[in-house]
Amino acid sequence: MIKESFSLTTKKNTHYACEMVNLDSSHFEEAYAIDMRAFEELNGKYIKKSEAFIKACLRSECSVGIKTGNTLIATVTVNIEKINDEKRASILGFEEHWPVFIGFIEGAYVLPTFRKQGLISRLYCKAVQLLKEKGIQHIYSAIDPRNHANIIAMTKSDFALQNLYHSNLNGDLRYLIKHHSEQVFLTDKQHTVLIDDHDTQVAYFKKGYIGVHITVKNIVSGKTSDNKSATCMMLMKKR
Ligand SMILES: CC(C)(COP(=O)(O)OP(=O)(O)OC[C@H]1O[C@@H](n2cnc3c(N)ncnc32)[C@H](O)[C@@H]1OP(=O)(O)O)[C@@H](O)C(=O)NCCC(=O)NCCS
Repeated sequence: MIKESFSLTTKKNTHYACEMVNLDSSHFEEAYAIDMRAFEELNGKYIKKSEAFIKACLRSECSVGIKTGNTLIATVTVNIEKINDEKRASILGFEEHWPVFIGFIEGAYVLPTFRKQGLISRLYCKAVQLLKEKGIQHIYSAIDPRNHANIIAMTKSDFALQNLYHSNLNGDLRYLIKHHSEQVFLTDKQHTVLIDDHDTQVAYFKKGYIGVHITVKNIVSGKTSDNKSATCMMLMKKR
């Protein structure tokens, strides 16, 4: 059971005592409400989760959150999933032996007041550590291609974009993201691609490239985002 304390000063110069915690079934109401906030704020860029699904994530022992007092201000929900069929393995581009358990980061949310303070980076790092402690080597996530803030946050936490695919839940386009603790296997061969140029990206993904870094100007996350005015480049490196 984790309990890590730290302090945080927001942009308005308010100080908060924070604690990182494992999320379990006792956090269901709050964690579900936060997931619904993400769904509403992301306005079509986030797949709505059922109550049963959030409960499953809270049973994984790898979902984590940050509290101030008794209030959750940031969460990362993680599911542990067994890969035991060809179709799922193929969506994930899974080339190892299966059946095998994988970790999947299903949700991430930081309350607006507490953004850009490194909270999601802390939570991704802890979720990855907890999954690895359970012997889970393959850790994935999926993101709407328009959610540049979280794509940046994930690539900065050693996740790389591996593919573009259509969700089996609602058909929406998603980047498939995978955690890579070892970057050494990447060659120096690299290309930069516009973030909206999906056709070129897919062609590179097919050749074994992965997206490792995003450069974006002028974006904010959430409802007010104006991604059209942003210049976004993805740096792709050959595996
Ligand atoms: C995306 C989100 C989770 C980021 O959380 P956060 O706690 O603010 O992120 P962090 O402060 O840990 O930032 C991690 C890195 O991403 C960068 N980043 C975060 N938000 C960014 C933004 N809006 N624009 C550009 N870069 C951003 C940070 O600068 C940081 O990089 P650095 O280490 O070089 O400074 C948060 O904005 C959020 O909750 N958004 C709405 C919900 C959402 O999109 N969830 C994901 C659904 S899949």
